[in-house]
Order: sequence, then structure tokens, then C-alpha cells
Amino acid sequence: DLPERVTIWEVGARDGLQNEDTVVPVETKLEFLDRLADAGLSVLEATSFVHPKWVPQLADAEQLLAGLRQRDGVSYPVLVPNERGLDRALAAGVRHIAIFASATETFANRNLNRSLDEQFAMFDPVVTRARAEGLDVRGYLSMCFGDPWEGPVAAEQVVKVGHRLLDMGCSQLSLGDTIGVATPGQVETVLDGFGSIDALAVHFHDTYGQALANTLAALRCGVSTVDSSAGGLGGCPYAESATGNLATEDLVWMLDGLGVRHGVNLDALADTSAWMAEQLGRPSPSRVVRALRG
Ligand code: HMG
Ligand code: MG
Repeated sequence: DLPERVTIWEVGARDGLQNEDTVVPVETKLEFLDRLADAGLSVLEATSFVHPKWVPQLADAEQLLAGLRQRDGVSYPVLVPNERGLDRALAAGVRHIAIFASATETFANRNLNRSLDEQFAMFDPVVTRARAEGLDVRGYLSMCFGDPWEGPVAAEQVVKVGHRLLDMGCSQLSLGDTIGVATPGQVETVLDGFGSIDALAVHFHDTYGQALANTLAALRCGVSTVDSSAGGLGGCPYAESATGNLATEDLVWMLDGLGVRHGVNLDALADTSAWMAEQLGRPSPSRVVRALRG
């Protein structure tokens, strides 16, 4: 059975732009977010309060938040790795954060400079303080299906680390296929391992062209929050071979065909991605954007 309605968690401005060689001007990012909200997207992950040397593309997080036009019914979550990041996010007026953990030891080290256990010691005070301030906290879990250094990742490991994030107080857990190697059978196995689907979201990168098939498998398991990025921008600078996320346009096209509601205007969205591709100086990797605007 498919859900009647899917919430699209749009990550283009964060996951998409964190991986661009060029630093996009803050005015362009703000216009991007504004156009995405106009197109009907209601969750727009805006940026990250990480170390500016680790991700220079998002070093303008404060300026971005200062320029953001808040709208009713639209939330603008940001990534926060540690208490320093939380201080910055709170000072900027953020109401919705996401911490981001790794299911594997190697990626915890590469992405967060922490061991698998140390990452939890880093997140623990972040979640406690954020919740005391009334913020909503999402948990990401990376490398849920494969890791470029460790190879395949066991479903039991993903379930175990994922439960630690939920037990900590995350309201939602987004399962990340950071390098885009998952296939639909594996998605079902991992989701089944969690028992309850209620708090789960999926976050697929499209490296091997499996993101849409994986999403359909997740929808059939009952998942109703799907991460995607306008135009298929994306990747992770700390994970070799990570390419763009599932393109929001590709997702919307499939949901329309399935009769699943999502609230997004595909034309306005494709226009926005075509415009962003011009800003970035390269064509959109989304098949649907190319079909509609190529
Ligand atoms: P570290 O070097 O271990 O930091 O980095 P530290 O705690 O040792 O602190 C060192 C210095 O950095 C201190 O300054 C801190 O104040 C400063 P000093 O006292 O030496 O002057 N500092 C900060 N400054 C600004 N903002 C901060 C901050 N934190 C410390 N937040 C750290 C640890 C976690 C900070 C670093 O590893 C980091 O920023 N990592 C982020 C990497 C990242 O953003 N990766 C991409 C996002 S994850 C992703 O894309 C996957 C996802 O899409 C899901 C999927 O696809 O699977 C979510
Ligand atoms: Mg990602």
C-alpha cells in the first residue's frame, strides 16, 4: 500500500550546494529557497552550521538566515553537528535542526572527526538543549546501505545506530544512502529491521540510478517522508563517489503517476532548477528537468 500523501524534504540548498565547486552567492541561495517555497515545497533544508573550513560552500549560514523570508507553513531546518553549531543556529533564530550521524566508524571519522561512539557524545548535549528550547530535531544516519571504505553495511548495524538516534530524542530518522549504492531489496530489509516505520524518512543519492526505485520500495513499506533535491543537485564532500540526490522533479513525476499527493507545482519547480543550472553553469542531472526544459 502506498501512502496517500508524501512530505518532500527538499535538501537542494544544503546537500545540493554543499558539494558545488563554486561558492554560490547568498542572494542566489535566497532566491533559490524563495522559488522552491513558491513551487509549493514546505520543508526546505536551508544550510548547515558546521565548521566553515570543513564546508566553505555553506560558510554564509548566518547571512542566509538573516536574509530568509520566513513563511507560514514552511520550515527551514538546518544541519547542526555540535554545541558550537547549535549556539550559532539559536542566535540565527532557527527552530528546526538536524544532527547527522554515521552508521559506520570510518565515515564518522571522515565526516565528523569522531569515532562512532564519540559522535553520540557530541550530539547528546545538542539534542538535550535543542529540545529544552522547543526545537524540533531530526536525525540523519549516513552510510545505511554501503560505505566507500568499509563496503556493504549490515542492516543490524543500521538499525542499532538508528535506534540510538531515536532514543536520544530525534523526532524523525532519515536513512541516508550517502553514496547511492542501495537497491530496493536492501531498502526493504533495512526498513523491516526497524519494525515501526512511523518515524522514518529516506534519503537516496542517485549514483547508480537506483534512487527512484529505492524510493518506491520505501513508499510501499509505508514511508511517507522522502528527501530529494531540486534538479538532482547534491553529494557529500567527505564521501568519495557521492553524486546528486534523488531529483525532486523525478520524485514528483513518479508521485503524480501514482496519484500520491505532494503539494508541489512541477512546472514552477522545473523552471527553478533550470534557472539554478544556469547559475551553476552546467545542465541539471535530473531526467525530468531535461525532458521538460532541455
Ligand atoms: P573538529 O575539527 O573536530 O572540531 O570538527 P572541534 O570540536 O575540535 O573544534 C575545533 C575548532 O572549530 C574550534 O575553534 C571550534 O570552535 C570550531 P577554536 O577553539 O580552535 O578556535 N568549531 C566550529 N566553528 C563553527 N561552527 C561549528 C564549529 N564546530 C567547531 N559548528 C566538526 C568537528 C563536527 C565541527 C567538523 O567535523 C564538521 O564541521 N563537520 C561537518 C561535515 C559536513 O558538514 N559534512 C556534510 C554534511 S553530512 C551529509 O552530507 C550526509 C547527509 O546528506 C545524509 C546522507 O547523504 O547520508 C546528511
Ligand atoms: Mg546526502
